[in-house]
Amino acid sequence: MSTLAGLPADLLESLEGITSMGVITGAGVSAESGIQTYRGQGGLYDDEAEGDATVEALSASTLHHDPDRTWRVVAELARRSVDAAPNPAHHAIAQLEQNLTRFVLLTQNVDGLHKLAGSRNVIDIHGDVLDTRCRDCGARGRFTPEEVRALEGTPFCPDCGGVRRPNAVLFGEMLPEDKVRRMHQEFYADPPDLVLIAGTTAVFPYIAEPIVVANQRGRLTIEVNPEPTIVSPHVRWSLRGKAGEVLPLIAEALTSD
Ligand code: OAD
Repeated sequence: MSTLAGLPADLLESLEGITSMGVITGAGVSAESGIQTYRGQGGLYDDEAEGDATVEALSASTLHHDPDRTWRVVAELARRSVDAAPNPAHHAIAQLEQNLTRFVLLTQNVDGLHKLAGSRNVIDIHGDVLDTRCRDCGARGRFTPEEVRALEGTPFCPDCGGVRRPNAVLFGEMLPEDKVRRMHQEFYADPPDLVLIAGTTAVFPYIAEPIVVANQRGRLTIEVNPEPTIVSPHVRWSLRGKAGEVLPLIAEALTSD
């Protein structure tokens, strides 16, 4: 039996001739690497009281008046990231980029696993939890895994002594303008032939919109998620499965002759 047996025959047929692709990912793509998702059973926000406290800790206003509290949560997220390794979903996405003429990955994940797997044209719209910038002088930095494991409390800027902040989007903050511009160029000007969304509840409109637009403009659209989401009614194919199992099948279908 072919390894592609898990994909419907008419989906395989519609993948023929695809040369450009956009992929949109969320926490579910890292679930099989052992990283907790945000929503749903066992997610970071699953327990309502703890979830609210986490959201508050990850907000711009908490960073402003109590950076230690923000850093306690960020340091924990960063430790989980450096202790994790890319799974077959990350590798399949990197393989797709190598084999298609045009490829873009929009991810909400801050764990850096896509880049570690080899993805290059990545719009990490929420940033990367290992990257920092100084709140005062703006100097950029990046923690090594050893620094992350040893991190306690607020880190300070080696240049000016100011508070270092994660170079990631906190609640109550705007998205980085340059990344929003790239997202528009890649997904709206001339949407890729295929747009695939995986492992996200797509609660943010800027995540749901590119796939809805691609579908409206006649592009092939696929969702990979064990559960239905708000974008499910707007995609051509809803594949109910784990990213680490379904994405390698799609990569194989698109990269074999
Ligand atoms: P969520 O935690 O909201 O959603 C995770 C999704 O992954 C759910 O739809 C699950 O059904 C699905 N899922 C779980 N396991 C999976 C697997 N093995 N394969 C495929 N899918 C699986 O995560 P996001 O949608 O990424 O923002 O959350 C969006 C944003 O909300 C995050 O980037 C974060 C959070 O607040 C910031 O930190 C700014």
